[in-house]
Amino acid sequence: MERTFIAIKPDGVQRGLAGEIIRRFETKGFTLVGLKFLQPSRELAEQHYAVHKERPFFAGLVDFITSGPVVAMVWEGDGVIASARKLIGATNPLNAEPGTIRGDLGANIGRNIIHGSDAPETAEYEIGLWFKPEELVNWTPTIMPWVH
Ligand code: TYD
Repeated sequence: MERTFIAIKPDGVQRGLAGEIIRRFETKGFTLVGLKFLQPSRELAEQHYAVHKERPFFAGLVDFITSGPVVAMVWEGDGVIASARKLIGATNPLNAEPGTIRGDLGANIGRNIIHGSDAPETAEYEIGLWFKPEELVNWTPTIMPWVH
């Protein structure tokens, strides 16, 4: 079953949006298999955003993501990687469609509330970076036959 890494960034946590965001993934029908609340180290943030290290926004991005606690999660489900990206919406909340998390809740590209893995390879890398294997819970909700 496919898994993706989702993080509610410090702005989402500080604005009290964690419950609203988790609710959207739950009601969509995805399964939560990992959850932790932590303030990321610089090392973790730099590894997480390593692909952007030459970009002009990299330093500010690392400063921001390490500035407060984040909710780090792994969600599971058929097609969850691409579907989560649709639920999240475009990188710039000003361009994100209404109905998406960024479209409904954000207004600044540097404070766009949430992260979601963009492909199977990045999902695997990010899950391994943020979670130990034993921190992930293998389970099937008993309601699954009704949802799927
Ligand atoms: P990116 O991986 O392109 O977007 P996404 O989060 O939608 O996968 O960029 C990572 C983060 O970097 C993005 O969420 C916000 C920040 N960022 C900026 O601050 N300025 C920019 O011009 C871009 C492209 C991203």
